[in-house]
Amino acid sequence: MSAPLWTADALLVATQGQRHGEIAAVSGVSIDTRTLQKGDLFVALEGDSRDGHEFIRMAFEKGASAALVATGRAAEFADAGPLLAVPDVLEGLRQIGRAARARSKARIAAVTGSVGKTGSKEAIRTVLSMQAETHASVASYNNHFGVPLTLARMPQSARFGVFEVGMNHAGEIEPLSRMVQPHVALITTVEAVHLEFFASVEAIADAKAEIFAGLLPDGVAVINRDNPHFERLNAAARASNAGRVVTFGAHHASDIRLVDCALMPEGSDVTVDFLGRRLVYRLGSPGRHNAMNSLGLLGVVEALGANVDAASKALIEVRPPAGRGARLHLGEEGQEITVLDESYNANPAAVRAALSILSATPVGKGGRRIAVLGDMRELGEQSAALHAGLAPDLAPNKVDLLLACGPYMKALWNDVPAALRGSYAADSSALETMLLETVRPGDTIMIKGSLGSRMGPLVTALKARFAKGNA
Ligand SMILES: Nc1ncnc2c1ncn2[C@@H]1O[C@H](COP(=O)(O)OP(=O)(O)OP(=O)(O)O)[C@@H](O)[C@H]1O
Ligand SMILES: [Mg+2]
Repeated sequence: MSAPLWTADALLVATQGQRHGEIAAVSGVSIDTRTLQKGDLFVALEGDSRDGHEFIRMAFEKGASAALVATGRAAEFADAGPLLAVPDVLEGLRQIGRAARARSKARIAAVTGSVGKTGSKEAIRTVLSMQAETHASVASYNNHFGVPLTLARMPQSARFGVFEVGMNHAGEIEPLSRMVQPHVALITTVEAVHLEFFASVEAIADAKAEIFAGLLPDGVAVINRDNPHFERLNAAARASNAGRVVTFGAHHASDIRLVDCALMPEGSDVTVDFLGRRLVYRLGSPGRHNAMNSLGLLGVVEALGANVDAASKALIEVRPPAGRGARLHLGEEGQEITVLDESYNANPAAVRAALSILSATPVGKGGRRIAVLGDMRELGEQSAALHAGLAPDLAPNKVDLLLACGPYMKALWNDVPAALRGSYAADSSALETMLLETVRPGDTIMIKGSLGSRMGPLVTALKARFAKGNA
């Protein structure tokens, strides 16, 4: 049997909490009873709408070993199961996270950026897992509770740790980075995302650069040489603990330089000058942006001391995750449609990247390229202009038809030539029937919008409509 994640004693030392009942060792840490596993420590966090304490009894029914609860609530749940009581549950989770970091011998990477964090983190996890035990964040668990939770879940035996770190506001990344104490910090890129909470994109760059604050002495900063904010990021990295700055991009001065990138519908052949030597590999996810991200992630791999050649060969295994470009071939033979599921999120940079993948994706006989776009959220005052600003990108990316929904997408809809206008609806559910009436065999359909725009159900509707035996 493998060692427990945490013994009761280690949890007590880490949190200085009060024990109620006999706590057994725990094998995992959970904040959500829907995904809780038997043997987990359930952490009763207070969320925006619900308080985790409401779910303590359910956690024990599902097999939790113990629960981390607020001191003031311990008496109420004393009969439910073994408890560890602390004055502040989130701080208790942070303390467990810090203890995990303190005991770890892993080489640690922190990944931030306006887009491409999860994609890069998952790719790093994939390639490192083939070399040694690797622990990484689940999904986009990158915020004030996601980061300490990921730390708290890190087994002592892990040899590599990969942490996604995100933010909506200035000042959020620095404390998270100090908790993670990475050996390597990667900023994928800086773009107009979450602009609602920032005065400018420069301010976003500064907030991303907070990731360098937690770098261990002589750590490595990996930054995008092509980004308009490179100088700003570079200055911040050089003012930090970083012992070395590694740059990546197509720029001639990049340490990891893109020499060639042959884009194919389902991936790319990438040639790189990697710190002075030639590296050639095939990437299993399409688009120039993913090729660029791969340069940065190989920079991380090198800085972690892992094998770069083996990692680059493993990149063929990296596929775009669901909602971030996953490609679906639906329908009966001869009646197929292709769907690019980009429904997980959207911002101007990511929509442009997805349009370029749409342009590179073939259509069947009589088929068209259809862009189905929902609102890009959190763009603040410039929202309408940023939506309308996509209009010139449609025709060059061979889009034949636009289907759009949401109040902000109205700005784009108004600006595209009449010939490209398919349908517009107030929201995604109203667009569903129009989409199903529009799509015909041979079409390639790219569906994208912010998560809150609920574009995922449109992918589900196409799957149902074009299920085998249904077309
Ligand atoms: N370098 C890039 N340039 C432009 N778009 C990109 C880049 N990298 C990824 N994307 C696109 O951005 C979208 C989001 O990717 P991903 O989920 O990896 O980002 P994230 O930074 O983790 O986002 P979140 O802040 O929601 O956690 C995807 O559609 C992806 O294709
Ligand atoms: Mg993410």
